[in-house]
Amino acid sequence: MSTPAMLRSAQWFAGREELAFQNRSSLRSMGLNPDDFAGKPVIGIANSWSDLNNCNANLRDVAEAVKRGVLMEGGLPLEFPTISLGEEFMKPSAMLYRNLMSMDVEETLRANPIDGVVLLCNCDKTTPAQLMAAASADLPAIQINGGPRAIGRWRGNSIGSGTDLWKYSDERRAGRLSLDEWHEIEASYGCGVGACNTMGTASTMTSLSEALGMMLPGTASIPATDSRRMQVATATGRRIVQLVREDLRPSRILTPQAFDNAIRTLLALGGSTNAIVHLIAMAGRRGIRLPLSRFDELARTTPFLVNMMPSGQHLMDSFDSAGGVSAVMAEIRDLLHLDTMTVSGRTLGENIARARSFDRDVIAARDKAILAGGALAVLQGNLAPQGAIVKVSAASRSLMKHVGRAIVFKNYDDMLDRIDSPDLPVTADSVLVLQNAGPKGVPGFPEWGSIPLPQKLLQAGVTDIVRISDSRMSGTAFGTVVLHVAPEAAAGGPLALVQDGDQIELDVDARRLQLLVDDTELSRRKAAWRPPISKHLRGYPKLYIDHVLQADEGCDFDFLRPESAAALDFVPPLVGRS
Ligand code: FES
Repeated sequence: MSTPAMLRSAQWFAGREELAFQNRSSLRSMGLNPDDFAGKPVIGIANSWSDLNNCNANLRDVAEAVKRGVLMEGGLPLEFPTISLGEEFMKPSAMLYRNLMSMDVEETLRANPIDGVVLLCNCDKTTPAQLMAAASADLPAIQINGGPRAIGRWRGNSIGSGTDLWKYSDERRAGRLSLDEWHEIEASYGCGVGACNTMGTASTMTSLSEALGMMLPGTASIPATDSRRMQVATATGRRIVQLVREDLRPSRILTPQAFDNAIRTLLALGGSTNAIVHLIAMAGRRGIRLPLSRFDELARTTPFLVNMMPSGQHLMDSFDSAGGVSAVMAEIRDLLHLDTMTVSGRTLGENIARARSFDRDVIAARDKAILAGGALAVLQGNLAPQGAIVKVSAASRSLMKHVGRAIVFKNYDDMLDRIDSPDLPVTADSVLVLQNAGPKGVPGFPEWGSIPLPQKLLQAGVTDIVRISDSRMSGTAFGTVVLHVAPEAAAGGPLALVQDGDQIELDVDARRLQLLVDDTELSRRKAAWRPPISKHLRGYPKLYIDHVLQADEGCDFDFLRPESAAALDFVPPLVGRS
């Protein structure tokens, strides 16, 4: 139990007198009296609200509720802004800036008199970025999201964020949807503030934050506009003060066992493939190695239970009323490490002791699983020596074993230029290959992997085709899409060597992804290969290209991983005069 004298912030406010004077004076200049802060835990509220991020637009209100909770529990709340990663606006990809946001949060914690932090997230990358920072900083931390947005409706049909956009976009390109209808859908598509209401990356990551034990149980799925969100925000504010007093830090929560629990939950949810990259990165910040083989190993024995878009039918409001993350974890409790500690101060087992599914059509019973196992599969072969991912739950069963001839796009622009060309020699058996769309290649590892179906196939009624790239896919997308091929083409991976007409074999049951070209020919192509010339010669993109790790290593920066246990000690710097 921490006493006021042991608080980290005491080094600022009760240390060497002339410095403490200056620091106390700074608080008083903001209208605080000594009784308002003396000996109280200082709680940072890291707010990723931004007008540039509609998904996080309600976080100002959430922050106010968190502050109420902190004050009620006897802490001092100090809110600070962080960069915000809005998936819609940021180009080429919010993923380019995930590591930057994690550094922003970590360094703000490092530099300031903060004893514990509440992390306010929602849109896809904001959640893992904050958790990566918390894992490195290892100050008491708790996360709360803004919640999923309300459901839009068009002509009586619910609209799922992302998933229905891709569906109606294909309808439009196939000529089956008029421009007026398209505009009607646009008007009702983004129905209010909050995160995507499908089990896309945002809802997957907030669910996994809860599964890891970094969010209070029951929090992730509460809708953005539901008054329970403010109730849980207040509870989160109260809890962080207690976490500081209990000195309960992420290092006791983010353990190898907790990451196993998160992977199992991801698989039961049929969640976003992006979560694989983020979990590896978060674990890496604690010095925990999560090889892709661990995901595949757990996938084989974890049932897929949740009937949500894009893999199924329902949206987040139904998931929440069916019991949310706790109900899913309760269904697979025998596969989980129930003794892992969580921010509630209780173990995971205690948190989910009374949880159950209230709607079996949304969260299926264990013995009526949608798939007995294998919602995700990790592929390997000469085309992906360090691995690739396929989301089996959102793919076509008929394409799980397939051999087809490659149609190669050298980059994203090449794909956009030719995908709808009547001259594209594509058939339903073709394999579309997109090169140079990986972490270094763009840079930033964008979500370009779900290559749109060529118009001529759409018009012929084809609904899926095998697609392969070193890119990612939106968590709301679907199809037989092989992603995260590593090493990527821009780093000289074999994907760079594929040529039009090559045969490619995909065998998901055998976990194989093979370029059926003999080794002599591949060696010849490799000798002739030259890395693409980057136009990013300065600034953050240059830093990113120089230091980003490949997808199978989580795409963190090499220098952000702890080199030793000592690197994880978050000792504040000597407090000095600026
Ligand atoms: Fe922000 Fe989906 S685009 S949560």
